[in-house]
Amino acid sequence: MELNTKLNHLSQEQKQHFIDNNISRTVAGSSLELDYSKQSVSDAVLDTLFAWARELNFEQKRDAMFLGEVINHTEKRSVLHSVLRASDERKKEVLGTELADEVIITEQKMSTLVGEITSRKRLGFSRQPIKDIVAIGIGGSYYGPKICAQALKPYSSGAVKVHYVANVDGGAIEEKIALLEPATTLVVVISKTFTTQETLLNANFFKQWLLDGGCSLAQLSRHLIAVTSATDKAIEFGVSQENILPMWDWVGGRFSLWSAVGFPLACAIGMNNYLALKEGAYEMDKHFQTAPLENNMPVILGLLGVWNRSFLGYSGLAVLPYDHALRDFPGYLQQLDMESNGKRVNHQGELVELATAPMVFGQEGTNSQHAFMQMMHQGQEPIPSEFILPLTPHHGHEEHHKTMVANCLAQSEALMRGISLEEVAEQLRTQGLPEEEVKRLAPHKVMPGNSPSVTVTMDKLTPQAMGSLMALYEHKIFVQGVMWDINPFDQWGVELGKQIGKDVIASMNGEASSIDFSASTQGLLAKYKALNTKS
Ligand code: F6P
Repeated sequence: MELNTKLNHLSQEQKQHFIDNNISRTVAGSSLELDYSKQSVSDAVLDTLFAWARELNFEQKRDAMFLGEVINHTEKRSVLHSVLRASDERKKEVLGTELADEVIITEQKMSTLVGEITSRKRLGFSRQPIKDIVAIGIGGSYYGPKICAQALKPYSSGAVKVHYVANVDGGAIEEKIALLEPATTLVVVISKTFTTQETLLNANFFKQWLLDGGCSLAQLSRHLIAVTSATDKAIEFGVSQENILPMWDWVGGRFSLWSAVGFPLACAIGMNNYLALKEGAYEMDKHFQTAPLENNMPVILGLLGVWNRSFLGYSGLAVLPYDHALRDFPGYLQQLDMESNGKRVNHQGELVELATAPMVFGQEGTNSQHAFMQMMHQGQEPIPSEFILPLTPHHGHEEHHKTMVANCLAQSEALMRGISLEEVAEQLRTQGLPEEEVKRLAPHKVMPGNSPSVTVTMDKLTPQAMGSLMALYEHKIFVQGVMWDINPFDQWGVELGKQIGKDVIASMNGEASSIDFSASTQGLLAKYKALNTKS
């Protein structure tokens, strides 16, 4: 029998069984531990998943990625973000001396710039030190630095404040500029392509804001830095060559934190902490490359995700960090997971028969318990969840921490255990309710349980642990791409909206557009124009 047919059979059997609460399954790697005891899997399921991965030559495919083979075939690119966290020696082996030297020089340049800024030696046009950084970028040029800076706030150098501008919303811009002085602000434009509409609009705005604030054209170089693989476009925009930190086409946007995209983060937490983050990611790379599949954390996390999505048929995935510092981590994972594996065709361009990426959502800690977790406990379909729990806090509020950890453990237990009609009825009777009332109320209080979860723990949310966590999820996405036979490293699905956006703007400007809009869009455009056209 083919292995995925066998998995289909096993899933029918598994659906008849409750998660076995006597089983303890954990795997450790780098500074993390994954507890996957509360998954709806038997040993037979796990064995078959590992066998299937081997049958698909998973190990060779993983090694091909680390060696720089062209695995992103629709864009004809290698996928080498991992080499950016490896030793210089390894960089030379994988990239060749010339390219490795370019990478190493960029890292040194970034380190010098970070040093100048965090030591307050970089002066603006009025000879005052730079105090604030506006990091302009969107998607992968935004999420990684933003969520790591948030997660690692206790490690903040305090020398400079970093503000992130991603969305095109005048309201957001107003909020930022109210806090900033052009004379002491450095604008960092992060865009791999340097063509992203939102980023360019914001970059142009802030360039003009600097000029209006007293910075001359000649002084702009003190205030403008670009991180991009399109150096020519950045120069055309007005960034001087020495202020450009290059990146390369073999680093995908949502995997780019490890390139100079991490520059604003390094300014926020200092270069040493940024290097420790990379070190943590590198530790996870080594674990991923060397641990046998049965003890390999990204492999196990990835395979369980495929099992839940493609065989048990669960369409959601809740990411639940029990740490305020990780509150935006689910948003980052939405891009990482859904932009990577939210695809319907395989490498050959044929429809994938199995269901692919789940709908990822989430929120920090106990807040989610008072919002969407009702549906996780009593909705019509189990929603697998991933709890993320740093075991010791950076703060000294022990009672708060204890309560939060207790809630985290209680939720995964409740999701697995549920409560049956008989148990509910018994509880109600013990409360002294009349039998009629017991009958009426009991069905409303039943929770089916059997909802699978994993819990990822770490001793503390240090830069190393955060690096390992980021790499764990990057590799999980890769594992799933192999199992579904899809390319996680392109994102053609975002293109059509961008193209039509240009047509919509043309129409707003009274120019011809290249498509006929639907009746709905025409109506909405007319409404917009009626209220926004100046007479
Ligand atoms: O959302 C599409 C996307 O292409 C992402 O993959 C990317 O991270 C983001 O836009 C920003 O792109 P760039 O860095 O080229 O501005």
